[in-house]
Amino acid sequence: MTEAAFGGSAEQTSEEEVGLRYEVDGEIATITLDRPEKRNAQTFATWSALAHIGDNLPQQVRVVVVRGEGPSFSAGIDLRMFTPEGVPGQGSFASSATLDGSAFEKRVAQAQRGFLWLRRPDIVSVAAVQGHAIGAGFQLALACDLRILADDAQLCMKEPALGLVPDLTGTKPLVDLVGLSRAIEICLTARTVKAEEAARIGLAELVVARAELPGAVRDLTGALLATNRDAAVATKRLLQGASGRSLEEQCAAEAREQAARVKALFS
Ligand code: CAA
Repeated sequence: MTEAAFGGSAEQTSEEEVGLRYEVDGEIATITLDRPEKRNAQTFATWSALAHIGDNLPQQVRVVVVRGEGPSFSAGIDLRMFTPEGVPGQGSFASSATLDGSAFEKRVAQAQRGFLWLRRPDIVSVAAVQGHAIGAGFQLALACDLRILADDAQLCMKEPALGLVPDLTGTKPLVDLVGLSRAIEICLTARTVKAEEAARIGLAELVVARAELPGAVRDLTGALLATNRDAAVATKRLLQGASGRSLEEQCAAEAREQAARVKALFS
């Protein structure tokens, strides 16, 4: 159970109602966007449910797979959020326009919590993307550490075309992955990036035929789990910190992490 996050009442909403399925099998958690008839459109309740999963992830979980049921990974924010009526129990952008700036920003920050935990060093998150990943869908894929795309995947940062900005944590990973110029071009044209290009510019680790997506995710997950857990956590922490450190600082961080590893392994 989770709590509706944005506007409206704070009523309890079941994960089924927010369009998510969540399964844990040993060290692997799988989150499935599960409203295929609406192309897995996301609401604030979806993001609240994602945050709830992150807050309560069982300690043994090492890999989190984020996938979508049906033809599309996700068509982004539920377009009802742009209507005056909004989504029942969750309000709308129109009703949020009356909030003062800081109240609105708090609500966005609450929604962002659903995405941010996917970068935690103690897990590796993998997005398995087929079909459309638009707006919030693209940002959810970007929130993951790794992306495997089906060859029919189409990524689009549509927000600027709708008069909005991408605000669900996607701008930083996008710039980190493709560079500032390409990120500006992709966002400000709101064009579609197809799978082959996505792989070429660093938005995907792997592109496979649509039917092979589940098998490719299984293979990657298996390979990730074959690595020593503590070494994986420490290495991810090192890699995540690298861009913010000088070479000397990074070398010192490597030495610190290695000292801890050697102590754990040999003392
Ligand atoms: N919200 C709510 N419902 C949606 C939806 C969305 N984002 N996207 C699709 N649906 C619904 C359609 O209304 C349709 O419902 P009905 O059967 O009841 O009519 C059903 O899903 C199937 O849709 P399509 O027939 O259009 O499916 P398709 O496979 O031909 O096309 C698509 C798929 C290209 C994703 C197309 O549906 C589409 O363009 N959707 C809208 C995408 C969009 O603009 N998203 C918002 C991006 S911005 C954002 O996420 C963040 C932000 O603004 C802050």
